[in-house]
This record gives sequence, structure tokens and C-alpha cells, in this order.
Amino acid sequence: MIGAIRKDFPILSRRINNKKLVYLDNAATTQKPKAVIEAISNFYLNHNANIRRGVHTLSEEATAKFEEVYKKTAKFIGAKSVDEIIFGSGTTEAINMAAKCFENSCFWDKEGEIIVTEMEHHSNILPWMSILDRKENIFGFSNVKNLKVIRINKDGILDLDHLKSLLTSKTKIVAISHISNVLGTINPVKEIVKMVKENSSALVLVDGAQAVPHQKINVQSLGCDFYAFSSHKMLGPTGVGVLWCKKEILEKLPPFLFGGGMIEEVYFDKAVWADIPHKFTAGTSNISGVIGFGAALDYLEKTGLSLIEKQEKELVSYCIDSLSNIPGLTIYGPLDISKRGSVVAFTLFGVHPHDLASVLDSYGIAIRSGHHCAMPLHNKLGISATARASFYLYNTKSDIEALVAGIKKAKKIFKV
Ligand SMILES: Cc1ncc(COP(=O)(O)O)c(C=O)c1O
Repeated sequence: MIGAIRKDFPILSRRINNKKLVYLDNAATTQKPKAVIEAISNFYLNHNANIRRGVHTLSEEATAKFEEVYKKTAKFIGAKSVDEIIFGSGTTEAINMAAKCFENSCFWDKEGEIIVTEMEHHSNILPWMSILDRKENIFGFSNVKNLKVIRINKDGILDLDHLKSLLTSKTKIVAISHISNVLGTINPVKEIVKMVKENSSALVLVDGAQAVPHQKINVQSLGCDFYAFSSHKMLGPTGVGVLWCKKEILEKLPPFLFGGGMIEEVYFDKAVWADIPHKFTAGTSNISGVIGFGAALDYLEKTGLSLIEKQEKELVSYCIDSLSNIPGLTIYGPLDISKRGSVVAFTLFGVHPHDLASVLDSYGIAIRSGHHCAMPLHNKLGISATARASFYLYNTKSDIEALVAGIKKAKKIFKV
């Protein structure tokens, strides 16, 4: 099965530094199957036109192909309707969009408090800080008030008692990642939403960038209010992301981006917005990207998320077992596989993660090193950087064996 899957990804047969490519940087971005590449090139070769505004054949074809992806996306995440789907450029833009619309809505007031977690990606911290910063500062935020942060324990698990103690009548939004891009921790979103709703009137936003690609998500059963994710982390092209939001909330949010395509009527003294979701998408969308994303969704549906999840669990388990046997190597996040997604971040005593990643690259192995846009988390862990291997449906046990062999070679090179 994996052999057949790998054949769908032309880049996997590339050689890097004269070695077979071992691609273990899937949490940063995934490789693209032929079906996605062909869907994009087919659009430009045969159907290219702007959408919704033309009555000519090409525009109607492009519009039909684009609209189809709303349906596929809604089905993929279990949304109630296509009206709840907003396409943007990625998770980052989706969360910024949510924050900007939220800031100008009836859900926010100036005394409000926002809760995030210690394990968040910067994309799920900074947009909220932008609401809470009390100073206009062109160099950065310098006076952020009312941001509360849920602690993690030593295993990288959220302390839910701490969350409960942080919730007040002033809490307006709780923004959490579904799966941490560093610790791999799978947060119990359903339980968190229940706790938030029982103890406050806050809305819950979930950063699903590392979850939607790897396990079946149903936004309705999670009970959250917003859910954000990126196409490029799930076989689709870059420059496409999704913000899902409950219809009844979306209807109460003002738009944050103004321009063509988001209006019903415009005069010099007034304007009337289009219906949701179009009032949130001003300007020309990434049409070819969204169509490519549709092909990625088809590919994932055809392969089956349950198979992908099962395969990845086996890989993560094998990776953790193998890395645990290397002296001087520390793995971060829960070791219990049932609580962990498919990223494994680690450090090797005496070797900077960037140096380790460079040595591995010389053997054709691509991993990520750095703070992975989670600087507060690394500060909490008392380290400046980690090395991170992350998996997807085309990875095999032999990729992990190559990683382990590469780390052992690096140990020899650095004499640690
Ligand atoms: C948990 C998490 N949130 C947000 C993002 C940002 O995603 P994007 O760069 O696609 O906007 C990432 C990307 O690494 C991520 O891992």
C-alpha cells in the first residue's frame, strides 16, 4: 500500500546530496501527489478565468470547480454547511481573520481576557496579543494585558485544572492548538470546550494545522466555535487555508477585509455586505490553489484518514522506541502514543539542532530544527531549539532507520 502511495509523489524519487531523499519535515509542509499538481496545471491549461464575476464559459467552469471545493471541505471536517467555510491563505491568516473580526464584534469588549496555552504556535498567540496590546508600537507589542496562559505539565500535557482556574466572566476567547507542532500532544478539545462553556461565555478557537491532515475531524462533535487549518500541510498547495466558524457566530461578525466580491451594494455613503461566507473574502481568491486543495481532499478521502492515522501511530511508536535507545537524546512531549500526533521533537546532548539537521541533510534526510515558531514553549522547556522529525502517509520504517543511522553518524562527527 505505502509503495503505491509513494509512487504518487514524484519528488520522493529525488536524490539529495547523492542520497535517496528521506523527507521527515511534514509538519512544516507536506509533499504533493501528482493528482494535486495535475489539478493545478489542468486549471491553468484549460479553465483559467476569474470566478463569480463573468458570464463566459471559462469563468463559469472556474467558478463551478472552485465552489465544488467548498462542498468537499465542509464534508471533510463535518461542517453543517458550506456557508461556514472561509478560504484564506493558511492557518495564520485564518486565525488573524478570526481575531480581527472578533475584535470588532459584539463578542469582545475592551476589558476582556483571552486564554491561550504554553504550547501554541506564534500564529495562535500574536493575533490575540494584537487585540490586547495597549500601545501602538511599530517595533512590537510592549504592553499586553489580560492574556492568560494555560500551563503544561512535565510530559507536555495541558493542566486542565489550571484552565478552569483561569476562566472568568471576562474570558472572551480560548485559543488552543488541537495538536502541538513541537510536543505532538493531542489536546482533549471536546473536554476543553465543555469546560470553557460551563465556566464562561467564551468562544473557543482551535488551531487544527497539525490535526486535520492526520486524523478524522468533525468540528460539530468537537463543539468549538472556530477551527483553522492549512492546505499545504495536507498534500495541497501553499497559499490556501480554511477558517471554519459556526454559522450563527459568523452571522454576527463584521468583515475585516474590504473590496471586490464581498458586497451586495456600494454607494459613496453606504455599503451592504454579501451573505456569508462571501462577505469575508474580498478580492480575487487563490483559485488554482483552492482547486488543488480540492484534489488533495479527494486524495486523502480515497486513502482514508483512519488508515493514515494507524500508519502514523506505528511510525511514531517505532521512532520513539528507536530514538529512546540513543544515549544523550531527549524526546519532548508525551511518550504515551495515544496522546501524541506524528511529530517527534528531540535534542541531542552536545549538538545544536541546526548542526544535527545539517549533518542529516548531508545524508539526504530532511528534518526541521529551531524553535518551530513556538518560542514561549522552548523558553518553558529551557532550551532554544529542538530537532523535529514529522511523518505523513508516505513515510516508512526505513525512513526512521535512516534517521537513527544519521543521528549515530552525527554523534561520531561531533564526538558526543
Ligand atoms: C500548530 C500550527 N499552527 C499554525 C501554523 C501556521 O501555519 P501556516 O504557516 O500554514 O499559516 C503551523 C505551521 O507550522 C502550525 O504547525
